[in-house]
Amino acid sequence: MVRRTRYTKGEDVCPTNQIRRHQKEKWTMHIGIPLETRAGEARVAATPETVKKYVAQGHQVTVQAGAGIRASIPDAAFEAAGARIGSAADALGAELLLKVRAPDDAERAQIKPGAVLVGMLNPFDIENNARMASAAITAFALEAAPRTTRAQSMDVLSSQANIAGYKAVLEAAHHYQRFMPMLMTAAGTVKAARVLILGAGVAGLQAIATAKRLGAVIEASDVRPAVKEQIESLGAKFLDVPFLTDEEREIAQGVGGYARPMPADWMRRQAELVHQRATQADIVITTALIPGRRAPVLLQEETVKQMKPGSVVVDLAAAQGGNCPLTVADEVVERHGVTLIGHTNLAGMVAADASALYARNVLDFLKLIIDKDARYTLNLEDDIVAACLMCKDGQVIREAA
Ligand code: NAI
Repeated sequence: MVRRTRYTKGEDVCPTNQIRRHQKEKWTMHIGIPLETRAGEARVAATPETVKKYVAQGHQVTVQAGAGIRASIPDAAFEAAGARIGSAADALGAELLLKVRAPDDAERAQIKPGAVLVGMLNPFDIENNARMASAAITAFALEAAPRTTRAQSMDVLSSQANIAGYKAVLEAAHHYQRFMPMLMTAAGTVKAARVLILGAGVAGLQAIATAKRLGAVIEASDVRPAVKEQIESLGAKFLDVPFLTDEEREIAQGVGGYARPMPADWMRRQAELVHQRATQADIVITTALIPGRRAPVLLQEETVKQMKPGSVVVDLAAAQGGNCPLTVADEVVERHGVTLIGHTNLAGMVAADASALYARNVLDFLKLIIDKDARYTLNLEDDIVAACLMCKDGQVIREAA
C-alpha cells in the first residue's frame, strides 16, 4: 500500500509548493491578458501560441477567465499553453499588460502604477494619454509604429485593416440582394456585381482581392498615385483623377506612406468622378483615411440618392466620421434605397484570426522592450519603441504620432 503524506497549504516540504516556489523565482515578468470590456470587442491580445512563447521565455502569464471565448479560444487552451487563469484584478494587476483596446476608467483603476501596457491605445486620443500618464502607466500604442520594413511584423494597422477589407466585402455581399459573380444558367444570365473601392491602402487592396475572388467587376481610386500599379495587379481598374498643379502632385505623395488632405479643387474633381462611377456601381466600399483627422467625405448624399436601388455602401471610415455623411457608426441603415453599413470594428468580427495576427504583432513588439534576460527595458534609440511610447513616469511623451 502506498502511504500518502498530508501537507498543509504553504508548507515548504510540500513538493508542489516547492515546485511553485522554484517556478516563481524563475519567472521574470508577470504578463496579464485581460478580457476586453469595450462593447463589441471580441479580440484578445494573446493566443495559446504566443502564451507558450512567453512562458518558454520564463514569464508568468495570467489570462482573465473568458478572455479568449469570443475569439474561439477556451480557457483550457490558454492553460494548456502554460497560463494561469485568473480574475480581472489578477490580469490587470500584472507588471506587463497586453490589451487590444485602451483601458476604461474601471480597468485603469486596477492597473498598478509603473505597469507597462501594450495595445491599440489610439495615439491620437490625447485625453486617454493624459489619463494613462496620471495613473503612472508606461503605455505603448502600437498604431504609432512607423510604416517601415523592420516594423512590418508588428504593424497592427496592416494586420487588422487587411481583415477589415476582407470582412467589408463579405458584409456587402450579405446585404446585397444579387449575385457577385456573373452566372449563365438555364433560367437566364446574371450580371456580375460592379464594385467601387475608394481608398486603396491595406484594407482597400484586400477588399479588391476579395471582391475579385467572388467574381465582381472592380474599379478603385486613391489619392496616392503609387497604388495604381497595385490596383491593376489585383485585376481592378484604376480611376484616375489627374493632377493639374505641382501642389496637387506633391501633396498626393503623402507623408510616411500616409495620405494628406488634398486641395479643394482636386477633391471637387474626384467627387465628380466618384459620383459618375458610384451611380453605376452596385457596391461601394470606402476606406479613405488621413491619420489623426476626420475622414474625407468622398460619397455625397446627392450621389447616394442617385445610386441604384438595393446598392450597398460599406464605410470603413465610420469610426473617423465616415467617408459618407449618411453613414451611422456601428449601424446598418437604409437611405434613399441604399444600405449603408457603418460597422466600426470589422476586424473584431473575424475575432479568431484578428486575435491570432494581433497577438503575433504584440509578440514581435515585446522583443524590442524585453531584453535577453527577459526583463523590461526601454531603448529610446529604437525608432519603433520611441514612436509607440505614449507616456511614462507620469508624463505624456507623445501627444500624437
Ligand atoms: P490608411 O488607412 O491611412 O488610408 C487608407 C487609404 O485611403 C490610403 O491608401 C490613402 O491614400 C487613401 N485616401 C486618403 N484620402 C483619400 C482620398 N481623398 N481619396 C482617395 N483615397 C484617399 O492607409 P493604410 O492602409 O494604413 O496604408 C498607409 C500606407 O502605409 C500605404 O502607403 C501603405 O502602402 C503603407 N504601408 C507600408 C507598410 C510597410 O512598409 N511596412 C506596411 C503597410 C502599409
